[in-house]
Amino acid sequence: MVYVASPYYVTTSDLSSKRRQPDLSRHLSAEARARLPNPIKSIWKVAQVKPGTINMGNGDPHHTLYPICEMNFVVPSIHEQDPVQAWRVGTGEQQTVSSYRDEPCALSLKTAMAYSAGAGLKHVRDTLAELNDRIHAPPKHTVTLSLGNADALTKCFRLLGDPGDSFLCEEFTFSAMTNAALPLGINWVPIRMDKDGLIPSDMELILANWDEDSRGKRPHVLYTIPCSQNPTGSTLSLERRRQIYQIARDWDVIILEDDPYFFLQYDLDIRQTTIERYGFFRAMAEVLPRSFLSMDYDGRVMRLDSFSKIIAPGMRLGWVTCNEFLAEKLDMLTDSSSQHPHGFGQAFVSELLGSRGWGTDGFMKWVASLCREYERRRNLFMDVFERKVAGSGLASAEVPKSGMFVWIKINLDLHPRYRELEDTKLLVGPVSNTAELMDELFRKLLECGLVMMPASTFAIVDRSGCVQSDSHIADRVNYFRATFVGTDETIENGLAIFGRGLEEFFCY
Ligand SMILES: Cc1ncc(COP(=O)(O)O)c(C=O)c1O
Repeated sequence: MVYVASPYYVTTSDLSSKRRQPDLSRHLSAEARARLPNPIKSIWKVAQVKPGTINMGNGDPHHTLYPICEMNFVVPSIHEQDPVQAWRVGTGEQQTVSSYRDEPCALSLKTAMAYSAGAGLKHVRDTLAELNDRIHAPPKHTVTLSLGNADALTKCFRLLGDPGDSFLCEEFTFSAMTNAALPLGINWVPIRMDKDGLIPSDMELILANWDEDSRGKRPHVLYTIPCSQNPTGSTLSLERRRQIYQIARDWDVIILEDDPYFFLQYDLDIRQTTIERYGFFRAMAEVLPRSFLSMDYDGRVMRLDSFSKIIAPGMRLGWVTCNEFLAEKLDMLTDSSSQHPHGFGQAFVSELLGSRGWGTDGFMKWVASLCREYERRRNLFMDVFERKVAGSGLASAEVPKSGMFVWIKINLDLHPRYRELEDTKLLVGPVSNTAELMDELFRKLLECGLVMMPASTFAIVDRSGCVQSDSHIADRVNYFRATFVGTDETIENGLAIFGRGLEEFFCY
């Protein structure tokens, strides 16, 4: 990797610290810079500092008039040897976790159901910060709650993006989110990928070749999905993560680490002796991938975690971990928009992860057991794929190491109507009919009763003119994203339709 002397660093006034800290203020959008704190929340925060202060300032309903005094959640017992299996087949014990308005519990409903700071309740933030510490050991970061990663991302885009800004992302990405940035005037610059995800040298090339005079401000944000990249299912290796972080430092890029699939890892070598000696938490923390957050000694990573994939998407609860400067700006946005996440979710998480619920160790036991179940489904998917699809040679797929997705390559060049222009040297657009054939195939499968997501849904077309590429992305959309999280029956039946549909489409 070429080291480029970065112009972006300022020396801290703390002479005892040799480390130079980046000045992150240049990353803020005009909206973030212009935003004033919610004045009511600011006074409310002051009122929290001194216990016993009589608060006659706020329009809070009185907690004795909340029409709720107890909440009971029946959940799987974490004492089962394999809790997810036992839960799935219905043989497992159950346990009840309860929140009360007045009786002692991890987070009383009196507190959970009241107005609070946008960042969420301290008890929940502390619990999640402890999870973070034991997994990522981030140098100096703070946790703020979100309504899941979609909420967190859209807020981060507003925090960092001005009209005309360019952000980097993987060339196939979770378009539901990248689309959310378009009305803000943010342009996406795609980075080439291979089967292992984003290619660091390509990211560096884009940044190094960027001409600010003709293209405007050099991209200062990278949006990346490091585990089970959506849609390609790839997981970045430690080596690539280190390279990407270094490039981000060299070019002063903020990394938005969108990691909802982080906890769903497969083929893990969890050590039984560690479980016995230190518990599940430590055993899992040892084998989970190293996050960008864990490397972030200069505060440029905003890491987004979510309960959606490990508890339930309807939880609408997640957490953002970033340095205090960015967290404060994010909280200001939340304080003046969605406000803090719902009290039900915060109460539930507090009890579930508390000493009368699963506890943090039990939570990790659940996660480890969930990984085993999804790993079984992934293996089944790959097995059925091998039997019902791959034999024809019309499609192939890599085995994903994490998450929920398989990225299926369609060998379109075997199709009798596949065409590629011969003299392509002067062309800047697509040179093949890949996109049309894939569209036809998608419709055919739909008629047969199967939906798989076509790659074109996720493709980011380069409009910056800065991406060096030997082919247009429309010539590389010969993929489908399929998920293996369904039932055994869905996997068997879905892939049978897929195999047959492919053969008919290719006239085999
Ligand atoms: C990559 C990625 N980011 C964000 C989200 C949204 O997650 P959440 O439910 O936490 O909002 C998803 C959901 O599928 C996703 O795949």
